[in-house]
Amino acid sequence: MAEAKEKSASKDAKENDEAQNTIWSRREFFSLAGWAGFLGSLGLSSLYFARLLFPRVLFEPSPVFKAGNPSDYTVGEVSTKYVKDQRVWIVRDNEGIYVIFALCTHLGCTPRWLKTENKYKCPCHGSGFTKEGMNFEGPAPRPLERLKIALAPDGQIIVDKSKKFLFEKDEWGKPGAKLFV
Ligand code: FES
Repeated sequence: MAEAKEKSASKDAKENDEAQNTIWSRREFFSLAGWAGFLGSLGLSSLYFARLLFPRVLFEPSPVFKAGNPSDYTVGEVSTKYVKDQRVWIVRDNEGIYVIFALCTHLGCTPRWLKTENKYKCPCHGSGFTKEGMNFEGPAPRPLERLKIALAPDGQIIVDKSKKFLFEKDEWGKPGAKLFV
């Protein structure tokens, strides 16, 4: 009888232990899940703040560039050296040097300098411009734009494409529209 009681007590204790173990493992599970959730949301908010610190910005190339020395340009010639990279022609006449923006004033195509015909010709709809940039044929409604030119302390030409000079606003004679050399 006593032996049966002992057996029953031992069985109860074992079941109790198992139940306890199950409770602990559930507790552990929920505790771990809680931590995982907390760390996950912490990670996400850190990423969010990092994203705020480094916003997606498009870094545009600088509108200012150096274009060599004035002596690199021949009087009476149009230099096409910077058309591909900077979309400008650099022209030297008897007075000095000026920069023409190679953007057609009709719909924005890039005209070509045709040396033999002494003009810029737009391949899109046929607009033509004189060496100085005046529109004289095709649908372009106004002359080409000129860009700011200056001399750096090191003697090199500096072009600033962010500053434009428009013929129709009588700006080609303004300071910066031409470099007198
Ligand atoms: Fe140059 Fe139309 S874009 S003529």
